[in-house]
Amino acid sequence: MSAPFTVPGLDEATAEKVVSILQDRLYNENEAALILKHAHWNVTGPNFIAVHEMLDPQVDAVRDQADETAERIAALGGSPEGTPDGIVRSRTWEPFAAKGRASTEYYLKALVTYYDSLIKADREAIKELDELDVISSNIVQDHVQVLEQFQWFMHSHLV
Ligand SMILES: [Fe+2]
Repeated sequence: MSAPFTVPGLDEATAEKVVSILQDRLYNENEAALILKHAHWNVTGPNFIAVHEMLDPQVDAVRDQADETAERIAALGGSPEGTPDGIVRSRTWEPFAAKGRASTEYYLKALVTYYDSLIKADREAIKELDELDVISSNIVQDHVQVLEQFQWFMHSHLV
């Protein structure tokens, strides 16, 4: 994927590496938005309304993160891939395991596990981006801070 342009001060080879790292984050963020909605629709039992309503702002936030990541890729001269088959083809992490109508506890535990992998992957991306493009690193840093807050919300339901 050769970029016809990139941002000033970044060479094309570096921009392509940054785009590749950001594309993995975009797949993960787009998938997270789908998974959070799936949980929002399927949770049942004790604390239903609290968990059901807690999840929608997380969907919105993660969608905004995906938009920011995608537009950073575009600004760097890359082409953000937002298709579902791209997510499935490129997934390097464990797929979300929770299926069907089930308790809030079941879904929250599955979401905490999913957030573990999402947050770890963001932190790995930050380490690489710090060496390549601090502006892109800052974007992912902003994202992971919000995800860590959301994971705290989930942990707090499970104590
Ligand atoms: Fe809804």
